[in-house]
Amino acid sequence: MEIAVIGGTGVYDPELLAEVREEVVVTPYGTATLAAGRYGGKEVAFLPRHGAGHTVPPHLINYRANLWALKMLGVRFVLATSAVGSLNPKMAPGELVALDQFLDFTKSRAQTFYEGGPAGVVHVDYTDPYCPELRESLLRAAEIEGLKLHRRGCYVCTEGPRYETPAEIRAFRTLGGDLVGMTSVPEVVLAREAEMCYAGVALVTNWAAGLTGSKLTHQEVVALMEANLNRLRRLLARAIDLIDEERVCACHTAVRGQAPLGPPGEEGKRES
Ligand code: HPA
Repeated sequence: MEIAVIGGTGVYDPELLAEVREEVVVTPYGTATLAAGRYGGKEVAFLPRHGAGHTVPPHLINYRANLWALKMLGVRFVLATSAVGSLNPKMAPGELVALDQFLDFTKSRAQTFYEGGPAGVVHVDYTDPYCPELRESLLRAAEIEGLKLHRRGCYVCTEGPRYETPAEIRAFRTLGGDLVGMTSVPEVVLAREAEMCYAGVALVTNWAAGLTGSKLTHQEVVALMEANLNRLRRLLARAIDLIDEERVCACHTAVRGQAPLGPPGEEGKRES
């Protein structure tokens, strides 16, 4: 199984897949439950980031178990969705954005598989934090499907679970952020450490705090996500279609040579 979809807020069901079965994967970090099925001729894993009923808040998601589990299943390409607020006047609610950069404002999350000792210490390059080649698959998919998809976007990841203050949003804008959400970091970071290609597609669900007269609610975020789910599904389905599973990219050797036991999740190579 080489391809996985990580579903963010509002994307809980593996609707894309046929012959769906549940996979429970035990990792050194805990257990990850996901769905596996077929799309076209391809085996695809589907992992709802917040749990099937949105029961896990962003700061308590077991990102390491999730990514390790995907690695153990053989996944090499991850397409991840997220709901975001927009700081950028050109990225309006309802629009889709292919992420290319992030700013990390998380506070309490494990960000690495490599905690010294036998696992070693690595320092991985994140000049292109989201895989540019997999992002290209999303962009081509959008073109074929006739969907508007912004080519780039800088995702500001906050700790949550609260929404931001208007002062924070002004600061993030000054720093070059386009979108704000609570989950892309450390997911994208751990995917690179596990030597998987990772692309993020964000759906703008609201203007960020303080940019309109109204207050933010989780209900409005979910409602906007639901209203746009079909477009997102079409984009993902076409992107899955376009992924060449034989492709090898720099992400697939991101830590090679740096860590004594090799990348995480490859059974037999590492103990914990
Ligand atoms: N802030 C943080 N996370 C979000 C937002 C937001 O405005 N909208 C959707 N997820």
